[in-house]
Amino acid sequence: MDRLRERIRREGPISFPDYLTAALYDPADGYYARPAGQVGRGGDFYTSVSTGSLFGRLLARHIAAWHRECDSPARWRIIEAGANDGSLAADILNGLADLGADAGLEYVIIEPLPQIAAAQCAKVPSASIVPDPGSLAVDPLPAFVLGNEVLDALPFHVIETTPDGWQELGVTLDDRDRFIWHALGPAPADLIHDLPLFSPGYRTEVRSSVAAFLKSFALFRGRMLWIDYGYPRPDYYHASRTTGTLRTFSRHRAAEDPLEAPGEIDITAHVDFTALARDVASLGGKVIRFEPQSRFLTELARPWLLELEGRTDPDARKDILAFQTLTHPGHLGARFHVFEASFGENQPPCRTAITHLFP
Ligand SMILES: C[S@@+](CC[C@H](N)C(=O)[O-])C[C@H]1O[C@@H](n2cnc3c(N)ncnc32)[C@H](O)[C@@H]1O
Repeated sequence: MDRLRERIRREGPISFPDYLTAALYDPADGYYARPAGQVGRGGDFYTSVSTGSLFGRLLARHIAAWHRECDSPARWRIIEAGANDGSLAADILNGLADLGADAGLEYVIIEPLPQIAAAQCAKVPSASIVPDPGSLAVDPLPAFVLGNEVLDALPFHVIETTPDGWQELGVTLDDRDRFIWHALGPAPADLIHDLPLFSPGYRTEVRSSVAAFLKSFALFRGRMLWIDYGYPRPDYYHASRTTGTLRTFSRHRAAEDPLEAPGEIDITAHVDFTALARDVASLGGKVIRFEPQSRFLTELARPWLLELEGRTDPDARKDILAFQTLTHPGHLGARFHVFEASFGENQPPCRTAITHLFP
């Protein structure tokens, strides 16, 4: 906080993406640079990964099916972004080993923060860990790129409707050195794109960093799977959503003031899945799936659910509870969506209706 204040005194008001980059990813004091512990019961929020290993084991079934569809190449890769403490990587690797589908696999984690990379290395010693996908050699190996709750953690702009049009908000200090919002001026046209103008005071977010984030991943031939909370554009930028989707999380409590304690709280906003679909198309990919997590996981779990029939042992009970949390619409099942795209594959089949992504 002190360094951010210092910077604003020196440079003047800063953009909200710059504020978020410091608050979440400052290598020394950013929220995500702290030793892992943000996710789970003792942290600030739960993710599907923190419900237990079932999520990763079900994803392993999906990845194994794709590997079979590609005629089981002798060498292949999984590339995970935002791997946190490495739990999902470990669960997917164990799941693939149980299915006998891990031969020739290199598991790569993309982790820009060195102290988090060290924790991942301890948890998943077999994984390769690199700071960004651009440092991986692009070769013909088929790759399955994935990330759970990563896109919602990428920095975003905050914009607000005024009688004169959209304006962009940044951050400055008041006379008591508290962080406050600051009108930076008219929002650039390439940020607003085709957004309609809502009534004055309507505040929302635009994440313009996704295409740049995806660019290096899009060089690999294979699949890209992102699981996150968000909406297609008409639901995201709806006239009734007057305060946007920005949320903060601390000790499992959601709030809406991101300026309160930079570095100490999680700051996030939903994913605009229409913008994601457009970014994927602009990078040469084809969207093949967009569906609620409940439907995706239930389909994957079918054979396993049959195996569970009649079992009452503690392991089975634990998995059933996790499955209910992951798929129940009141828990994670409807809030999270699964978005999958194909890059450089011949005739990839479309798995779900995706027209509602392209209003
Ligand atoms: C909400 S956490 C999700 C953690 C984990 N995937 C899970 O589901 O429990 C978001 C993670 O994305 C990571 N992240 C954000 N930007 C990233 C980037 N450019 N490359 C790799 N990881 C990134 C953050 O450091 C953080 O660990």
